[in-house]
Amino acid sequence: MKNRWMNAKWIGLISVLMVFLSGCGKNHLSTLRPAGEVGQEQFNLMLLSIIIMILVILVVVVLFTFALTKSRRSKVGEDFEPKDVAGNHTLEVIWTSIPILLLIILAIPTIYFTFKQADTQAMETEDGELNSEEVIVNVTAHQYWWEFEYPNQEVVTSQELVVPTDTKVYFNLHGADVKHSFWVPAAGGKMDTNIDGINSFYLVFDDEKAQDSERLFNGKCAELCGPSHALMDFKVKALPQEEYDQWLADMKAVEEPAQASADDAAEGQGIFNNSCIGCHAVTPQGAGAQGPNLANFGDRDLIAGYLEHNKENLVDWISDPESLKPGNKMTGAYDLSEEEIDKVAEYLMGLNVEEGSGDVSALEEDDEESSEEDSSEEGGN
Ligand code: CUA
Repeated sequence: MKNRWMNAKWIGLISVLMVFLSGCGKNHLSTLRPAGEVGQEQFNLMLLSIIIMILVILVVVVLFTFALTKSRRSKVGEDFEPKDVAGNHTLEVIWTSIPILLLIILAIPTIYFTFKQADTQAMETEDGELNSEEVIVNVTAHQYWWEFEYPNQEVVTSQELVVPTDTKVYFNLHGADVKHSFWVPAAGGKMDTNIDGINSFYLVFDDEKAQDSERLFNGKCAELCGPSHALMDFKVKALPQEEYDQWLADMKAVEEPAQASADDAAEGQGIFNNSCIGCHAVTPQGAGAQGPNLANFGDRDLIAGYLEHNKENLVDWISDPESLKPGNKMTGAYDLSEEEIDKVAEYLMGLNVEEGSGDVSALEEDDEESSEEDSSEEGGN
């Protein structure tokens, strides 16, 4: 009876572990499935240290078992006196040099890759100017959202980072309020975003690996930064170079907020322009707004960084952000009716910049009049 109970306990424990460990193998968020050069190098370092640790454990366990079985009093007799090896020269040399050797084996690649991965010199030209040839993203972490600015293109987006594959993407990391940490588990990192000073590094996204994870990777905040730290997620869209260039061109093309075409959306736009626009920009220019830039909101894959992207969730989010992301700064900034919120949601879901999608691209060659009208309402942010 007792045996059966023990078995059940083990099976239970293993099942629970399997549930948790099954999260370790996802292409889009697993450190154990590196998605590019940096992630692979960090993974290899991890493997190296694990192999060394296993070797050490094996040797210790073997010696321990050997000592335990060979030196039992019942085997060696009551009066056995072991040889005194204190101060034994040979032994001291052996057990000092082996750990030193192991540390050297561990240290050489670790130091090499640490410096290699911190090399962001290419971000600047020889005269100290921003290198326009490289992909550079300025990341600003806020409680609890992310702003991504492409300084070479003068494009800003938030919550969804778009990057080209098979090339180095350089990041300048900065925190707007408290310390956060920028982490794309599959691609590498993490690195702190400090309030005082900028941390820089680069990541690489393999095109093949990006395809395996449907071109989306998960990003996370990896530093406890407040009550909604665990919800401070973002997505990384890794596109082939041409598609990335197209995305940038589409973003740059949105210079004025397009006029929404559908009735509800158009009303929503009016409401938005009267209440929300003080914090949220709807054109992808100008970093440093109080709230996330919403220029390509309709193209996104998540609401508030972690909810499925549909209108229902958006309405819930606008109605009561505090319940979905405690401590966020959007809380209580408006007094809209249910009907008004619905219209604003309708408007936001239609904010697309990607090729062939929704309102904005259809209206790009739109009449000048409505655009001018909008820009006067845009307000400072
Ligand atoms: Cu931001 Cu945790």
